This record gives sequence, structure tokens and C-alpha cells, in this order.
Amino acid sequence: MKVLVAGGAGFIGSTYVRLRIDAHPDDSVRVLDKLTYAGRRENLDGLPENRVELVPGDIADPDAVAAAVEGCDAIVNFAAESHVDRSIESPGEFIQTDVFGAFVLLEAARAAGVRHLQVSTDEVYGSIESGSFEEHSPLDPSSPYSASKAGGDLIVGAYHQTYGADALIVRGSNNYGPRQHPEKLIPLCILNALAGDPLPVYGDGMQVRNWVFVEDFCRGIDLVLERGEAGQAYNVGGPDELPNIEVVRTILMLTGRDESLIDYVTDRLGHDRRYSLSSEKVRGLGWEAQVGFEEGLRRTVEWYRDNEWWWAPIRGGEYREYYERQYGRALRG
Ligand code: NAD
Ligand code: TYD
Repeated sequence: MKVLVAGGAGFIGSTYVRLRIDAHPDDSVRVLDKLTYAGRRENLDGLPENRVELVPGDIADPDAVAAAVEGCDAIVNFAAESHVDRSIESPGEFIQTDVFGAFVLLEAARAAGVRHLQVSTDEVYGSIESGSFEEHSPLDPSSPYSASKAGGDLIVGAYHQTYGADALIVRGSNNYGPRQHPEKLIPLCILNALAGDPLPVYGDGMQVRNWVFVEDFCRGIDLVLERGEAGQAYNVGGPDELPNIEVVRTILMLTGRDESLIDYVTDRLGHDRRYSLSSEKVRGLGWEAQVGFEEGLRRTVEWYRDNEWWWAPIRGGEYREYYERQYGRALRG
């Protein structure tokens, strides 16, 4: 089987490519990726060239997509603008890629008659005070990012309902692990802690996120690709729900820093208070998270310590300017 992995040069997509070729020794992967600030060829380093092919291209470009889909038996779509704060600053790209691009890819899957798995997020359900979202919970997104992801999900549902397309959705909770861009909370705090920079905590730091180690999430995606039912959505949430401040304190502990580095900053606009997913349905297919938060975070901190070659160019580039705009101060380290 040859799988087209859109967005496969990003954080989760590249983890999925590794897992896919390890778990299916006869399979190959074609990656279609626009290589935005978040997509990097280096994320696919070390993978066998005869089994993993990278095609630079935009999922919103029908010609690029038609060429990339040729010869593939399934599509998994990770390609997206993925950061909430950037969506607040500049929503247009999110609509273009996460809604229109998702549509272009889905249309190509329908034309080719292949399975299409849309990778989505718990953020489409919005915030929940208590209890957990199930797959039939109403979509109630808060940010331009989550609204555009919800748009993608709705189109997938419509294509199944209207055309009988073999399309389905996996909604993940907050991922963390190696190769995550430092704009996101966990790698941002790890790198700032290592450099002795302050760790910016939005608002009171009591917002709760449901953390899943990226390899666990990718195993869930692969299982749904193999065994999921067309037209269905599957939640894949991690085993641990934690307020942000606890995550930040654990990072300080693991990096040997003290709490004087914590910097409470202005809250994010429209900030969702709590995310929580029920993963009962995907458990029914045989999925279980294998990595708890403490172990996953330790592995993640170790990876960033050992792979400065990976993050140094990011901290030296466009991210520096983004950081100054977002946090109103320069990175020291
Ligand atoms: P990421 O930002 O690290 O990677 C996104 C990738 O998509 C990059 O390689 C980028 O170059 C590529 N891309 C962007 N626009 C493109 C376009 N128009 N055409 C082709 N490629 C394009 O994101 P991530 O954290 O790896 O997230 C991957 C997917 O998983 C996204 O769809 C996201 O919504 C979803 N998701 C993320 C999380 C999380 O915690 N990060 C949780 C649940 C779901
Ligand atoms: P983030 O990693 O951006 O993921 P998401 O917004 O998709 O949940 O943020 C995780 C949580 O951490 C979220 O509640 C916002 C918060 N946060 C901070 O407190 N400070 C930061 O600098 C960032 C980037 C996030």
C-alpha cells in the first residue's frame, strides 16, 4: 500500500511517516508538504529513500494534489496551519489551508476512489467545564484555527453523506514530543528553560489540556486508517489532563530551573478553559495510550537537549520575530 501523507514534514505528520513504514514493512509513503515555517525536510531525515518520497506542494493547489494522489491507495491529511496564536494574528491562511485545502484533497480522494483520513483536533468541540467530549458532541470552535479545522471536518462528513466517500476523521487532544515547533507551549517552555529565558504563562495558568504523546496519537491514526468505519469520527485523547501551570512547573523541574522563570503574561483572546476527550470509541478498535505524561515529557526534554542542531535554526529565524510580536520581548537565548 502507498499512503499519501499530506503535511508529513510537520511535527505529527513526520512521526506518523516513521511509524507507518516501521509498522508496515511492505508499504511506502509519499509526503505532500508545502514546507511552510512549520514543515522541514530534516523531519524526514534517516528514512529509506526507496520508501519515503517528499513532494513539495500545496494541498490547496488542485494540480499539485492530483499529481500527488496518483498511485496512492489512501490519504492521511495532517497539512494545516496549526497554531492558535498565529490564527488570532492572521486567520486568512488558516481558512485557505485548513478549509479550502482540506476540500481540494478530499475531492481528489473521491475522484481517485481512495480512503481519506482527516486529522483533526479536540478544539473543534470548544471548551468543556466538566466531563469529556464524545464524537457526537456538537462542534463549537472558539478560535480561527479551531473554526477552520471544524470546517474541514464538516466537509468530510458531507462528502461521506452525499457521495458515499470513504472518508473519516480522527480528533486528537494536545500532542507533545520530539520535533514539535517551539511556538507550542511544551517545546517553547523547554527551550526557554534551557536558555534561561522566562516561561510565558497565559492568564492564571489554570487552563486544562489533555496531553497525548505524539507516538500514541499516531498509533491511533494508523489503527483508524486500517479499521475505522467510513463516515465516522474517532477521538484519540491522552491519559493526562493537567493545568498549564503544572506542565510548566514539571518542565522547570526536569530542566533544573526554579520558578523565578515563570512569567504570567496577558491571556490569549477567546482562550478555551478546558479540553477533555472521551476515547472510548477508539479503545473499541484496540487503542490504548502507552506513554504517561511524566515519561513522555522526560523523553521530550531529553530529545530537545540532544538535538540542538534541529531547533537552533528555528530559534534563530522567523520564530524570533514572531516571538517578539507575540510576547513583546526578545528571546535571550
Ligand atoms: P505542524 O504545524 O507541525 O505541521 C503542519 C505541516 O503541514 C507542516 O509540515 C506544513 O509545512 C504543512 N502545511 C501547511 N500548510 C500546507 C499546505 N497548504 N499544503 C501542504 N502542506 C502544508 O502541525 P502538527 O502539530 O504536526 O499538526 C498536524 C495536524 O494535526 C494538523 O492538522 C493539526 O490540526 C492536527 N492536530 C494537532 C494537534 C497538536 O497538538 N499539535 C492536536 C490534534 C490535532
Ligand atoms: P498550545 O501549545 O498553543 O496549544 P493549544 O492552544 O492548541 O491548546 O497551548 C497549550 C496551552 O498553553 C493553552 O492553554 C495556551 C497555553 N500557552 C501559554 O500559557 N503560554 C504560551 O506561551 C503558549 C504558546 C501557550
